[in-house]
Amino acid sequence: MNSLYEKYFNKPSIRDARKRRSSDTPRFSYQPQSHLGALGAGKTYMIKTYGCQGNEADTETMQGILQELAFSPTEDEQSADLIVLNTCAIRENAENRVFGEIGRLKQFKRHNPDLLLAVAGCMPQEESVVDKLLKRYPYVDLIFGTHNIHKLPYYLESAILAKERVIEVFSEEGAIVENLPKVRDHAYKAWVNIMYGCDEFCTYCIVPYTRGKERSRQPGDVLEEVQSLASQGYREVTLLGQNVNAYGRDFTKQDYTFAHLLEDLRRVPIDRIRFTTSHPKDLDAQTIAVLAKGGNLMPHIHLPVQSGSDAVLKKMNRHYTRETYLNCVDALRKHIPGVSLTTDLIVGFPTETDDDFMATLDLVKTIGFEGAFTFVFSAREGTPAASYPDDVLAVVKKERLKTLNEIVNAGYLAGNKRFEGQTVKVLVEGQSKSDPAILAGYTPHNKLVNFSGPADLKGQIVDVTITEAKTWFLKGRAV
Ligand code: SAH
Ligand code: SF4
Ligand code: F3S
Repeated sequence: MNSLYEKYFNKPSIRDARKRRSSDTPRFSYQPQSHLGALGAGKTYMIKTYGCQGNEADTETMQGILQELAFSPTEDEQSADLIVLNTCAIRENAENRVFGEIGRLKQFKRHNPDLLLAVAGCMPQEESVVDKLLKRYPYVDLIFGTHNIHKLPYYLESAILAKERVIEVFSEEGAIVENLPKVRDHAYKAWVNIMYGCDEFCTYCIVPYTRGKERSRQPGDVLEEVQSLASQGYREVTLLGQNVNAYGRDFTKQDYTFAHLLEDLRRVPIDRIRFTTSHPKDLDAQTIAVLAKGGNLMPHIHLPVQSGSDAVLKKMNRHYTRETYLNCVDALRKHIPGVSLTTDLIVGFPTETDDDFMATLDLVKTIGFEGAFTFVFSAREGTPAASYPDDVLAVVKKERLKTLNEIVNAGYLAGNKRFEGQTVKVLVEGQSKSDPAILAGYTPHNKLVNFSGPADLKGQIVDVTITEAKTWFLKGRAV
């Protein structure tokens, strides 16, 4: 490879990504690149998003930047001038899907030699992925990571005007960039990042390496964004962070926590506030007390437990036990009656025994989660758990996942059943995917409801009486 043709060439390092500095995070405001404003004129783009809500929010930023540069969106990959894969590194199968997709997209470059192919998001934050891309997928034109989305205009300038290939990934986070343009995917609900990064270092997880140090946005910036969304007609916001309960922990000049933020957001005239993800070890009494006031704070908490075995939780570096988790659930149920609880679970963590797994099953039954994302452990290069002796057979892992899912699905159904005959408030988002005559929306407890009604109810919060509970949704009748 000839570096003369690469103005930007910066590879990541997992070792550098592990470093944490305790300095205050610098902040700056994004400036539109007016001299590049016509760069995308007459060109179309398409972004494929993988992974979590954090990535969905980043995609909305990329859309904002691209449309500011006059690119227009297309659904047609045959004719797109720019295809961006916004990738996720959380498990090996997620990565394999992306590599498969990059391979498939090669044919479009043959039809359209000017097609720009970009790989962004969490995968490029791994040095092994960048090495593989350079070696096996040399036709990828742009590679950038999670810390430098705001530089996309410059990368496109290099790629389009100078025909240079761009590989730029930073291992360490930079500043928090405010005022990034966004083109949002939903009309009534919006993602709002309240913080970036993660400092937890759960031993199985790649996120602290791909997203950098935990750093919180200023309360004023968050409040202003939610305020502005409310005045644009948005009805719901979901506050995003890998551990929202650690919000503000990095502030050195003020004592302002997640509980304070929720208290201030309660007063903003937006109908619904949700948040994800909570970490059980940091969900404190102050936060529960604010949530108990209800109002626009929705009674649904996603509280990943990962395992019901203390031995496994310890090896995962989760910093709570089965007992303290149960205490947390008791406190939530006591102060927020009827709260809906969902979780994440990993089976087949290295050395997980049958007894450990039974402890997980038992915990899931005891708590009665109303939903869960379940995963088989996947070793991520550079994380501590990748070097733990993995003695659980693949067939056993598969079997455990199946057994767990049966119980989880029973929990989904029971969680829906409790609303049969009740009248609930549904934020109508649109038509059902399978039948356009049916409207679809979510309740405060985050249950999907289908009911028939006129399309102009979209964006409204309407009363619906639940007539039947299925495992994955509720059927209802508008009141
Ligand atoms: N920050 C959130 C979730 C991040 S990733 C939290 O702490 O809860 C979402 C979920 O993916 C995790 O909760 C975990 O259940 C799962 N996960 C993360 N790394 C994994 C790995 N290496 N193998 C399998 N599942 C994993
Ligand atoms: Fe990963 Fe743990 Fe951070 Fe969640 S809290 S992102 S599981 S390291
Ligand atoms: Fe995946 Fe990155 Fe999110 S690894 S889960 S897209 S933070």
